[in-house]
Amino acid sequence: MERSDGFVKSLTDDGRYRLLIEAVTDYAIYMLDPAGIVTSWNPGAQRFKGYAPDEIIGQHFSKFYSEEDRKAGLPARALETARREGKFENEGWRIRKDGTRFWAYVVIDPIRTPSSEVIGFAKITRDLTERREAELALRQSEEQFRLLVQGVTDYAIYLLDANGNVTNWNLGAQRIKGYLPHEIIGRHFSQFYTEEDRKTGQPQNALATAAREGRFEKESWRVRKDGTRFWAHVVIDPIRDGNGTILGYAKITRDITERKEAQQKLEKTREALFQSQKMDAIGQLTGGIAHDFNNLLMAVLGSLELMRKRLPDDPKLMALLDNAVQGAQRGSALTKRMLAFARHQELKQEPIEIPDLVRGMTELLQRSLGSSVGIETHFPLVLKPVNADANQLEMALLNLTVNARDAMPDGGQIVMAAREELVAAGHVTGLAPGAYVCLTVTDTGVGMDEATLSRAREPFFTTKEPGKGTGLGLSMVHGLTEQFGGRLTLQSGQGEGTTAALWLPVANARPQAIDQIQRSAGDAAKDQGSLVVLAVDDDGLVLTNTIAMLDDLGHTGLAASSGREALDILRRGDSVDLVITDQIMAQMTGLQLAEVIKREWPDLPVILATGYAEIAPGTEVNLPKLSKPFTQAELVAELARAAPSGRKAGRVLKFRTGAGSTT
Ligand SMILES: Nc1ncnc2c1ncn2[C@@H]1O[C@H](COP(=O)(O)OP(=O)(O)OP(=O)(O)O)[C@@H](O)[C@H]1O
Ligand SMILES: [Mg+2]
Repeated sequence: MERSDGFVKSLTDDGRYRLLIEAVTDYAIYMLDPAGIVTSWNPGAQRFKGYAPDEIIGQHFSKFYSEEDRKAGLPARALETARREGKFENEGWRIRKDGTRFWAYVVIDPIRTPSSEVIGFAKITRDLTERREAELALRQSEEQFRLLVQGVTDYAIYLLDANGNVTNWNLGAQRIKGYLPHEIIGRHFSQFYTEEDRKTGQPQNALATAAREGRFEKESWRVRKDGTRFWAHVVIDPIRDGNGTILGYAKITRDITERKEAQQKLEKTREALFQSQKMDAIGQLTGGIAHDFNNLLMAVLGSLELMRKRLPDDPKLMALLDNAVQGAQRGSALTKRMLAFARHQELKQEPIEIPDLVRGMTELLQRSLGSSVGIETHFPLVLKPVNADANQLEMALLNLTVNARDAMPDGGQIVMAAREELVAAGHVTGLAPGAYVCLTVTDTGVGMDEATLSRAREPFFTTKEPGKGTGLGLSMVHGLTEQFGGRLTLQSGQGEGTTAALWLPVANARPQAIDQIQRSAGDAAKDQGSLVVLAVDDDGLVLTNTIAMLDDLGHTGLAASSGREALDILRRGDSVDLVITDQIMAQMTGLQLAEVIKREWPDLPVILATGYAEIAPGTEVNLPKLSKPFTQAELVAELARAAPSGRKAGRVLKFRTGAGSTT
């Protein structure tokens, strides 16, 4: 706006172009004569080459070239090219007046007369240093990114073309999948899928989903080059050009097998915990029922035994009686198994040599297995003894072998084996760390499907015909091993046979010959003479029964229905030789009663009658015990052991009461 319109209009075309060129500051626009001498210079040229017009007009344009380019004859060649081809175009370093370099984009056009004679050159130069630097920076960051992706080893990161063929491959991909770049680039990515997934079109689905939804994400099995599988977390993103056309896919895969395994382990542990809680709950219920039944059966069996002695010798009556006794005994055997399951059984803990125990059972096993089933034993030469109850362990082995026999209706072979194993924390069995003997009973029978296997240990679970099985066999074995601090594990598959394993803790002490204390008593009753026995039980039925048994044996039975009543009788000064007390009673337990007795009458023996887990594990009991229901013979044996030693038949000891009165 500095000049008036009249002035502008008066300019010639030539003058107008000059003005235009003079105004341009982003381009150096100047002319050379045919020899390359600068003949004009605009402000753009001045701005980025640094020369004022009078400093440069009349100089040769090679001044702008670097020393090397000049030596290489580049300026002359540029003019030559422009002259020959009508245009020279080039990017390269040029020198400013102050000696610094800039990256120039150069175009040289020849200027010709109508007769084609070259009268000079028009030269346009642009300073592209910034753009070049930006480009370089971009290229560098791209290179860094490429190196980064290449170097990542925890993730397989690679590209697929639009058809799903691998186009590049990083170190992570190589590490996770096992292929070297040249082995896989160009191949289709469905190669990483399992056969099943390929058949159902999973690879195509994955790309289609990525294309449709902009992303595909999934966890599933993939296959390595060596054929092994890994659990993969896969993400596929589509890559599109500016128009939205799919150019290919970016694929990121992680090997999360370990995480999955950890998760599975956690789930298994939870399942095991749930199972054990369920078993505990059933155990409590079963234990409660069995406890009540036990008391009833004790009364029934006791009364039947006494009836046998008093009934007239009529064979018909005796047959009926035998029937009743057998029925009650079967019931008692059942409740014993239930108590065993509920871990409410009175157990002896003694070191047991398994091979000896099994040898002792040979005849029993042969008889119960029949001729179509063979049995082999595989025991190592040296095997540490385990802590268990010999009778109960025999029962457990019998249960397992009978199960094995039942699973092989057409006959077969049972293998009984044992090995020592050191169990570390986190063992599959969930056992506490320590030394165990793993005693297995393996059959080649029908096996169990998963549902049966998961329920086999539950009480009353049976797949056998009604009347054929109680479903308490494995329950008993399970409860028993748990009570010993061990475990029962089952391994089976349908049609694959079964292995039942008893894990039993190794005994620390040296084994002693299984002691016969309880079995030796026999018919010692005859030498015992008459005792005054104070029987304590809060169950009237049981109490009456015990008193009846004592009376029948020729002893004098005194009845007390609580600990307090028993103490009253003793304090009254009645002469008593021995006390038999129930453990679980309201107000005062049998053990508490025994403690008071020990304080006040240190020489008075007490027998604890227990049928059910009244005694907390770990409690030390120094009293002789009778397990309920007990038979008359068992009562006799226990009385013989517990009665004051050295006493002669007929002599009744008197006990001094706290009040000092004596009878
Ligand atoms: N060795 C085995 N092979 C196949 N199935 C078995 C085996 N042991 C146990 N089972 C399955 O587990 C169930 C429960 O076994 P368990 O010993 O507790 O009871 P049972 O044998 O049915 O009855 P019981 O032991 O009272 O005679 C069986 O009914 C059977 O289905
Ligand atoms: Mg069984």
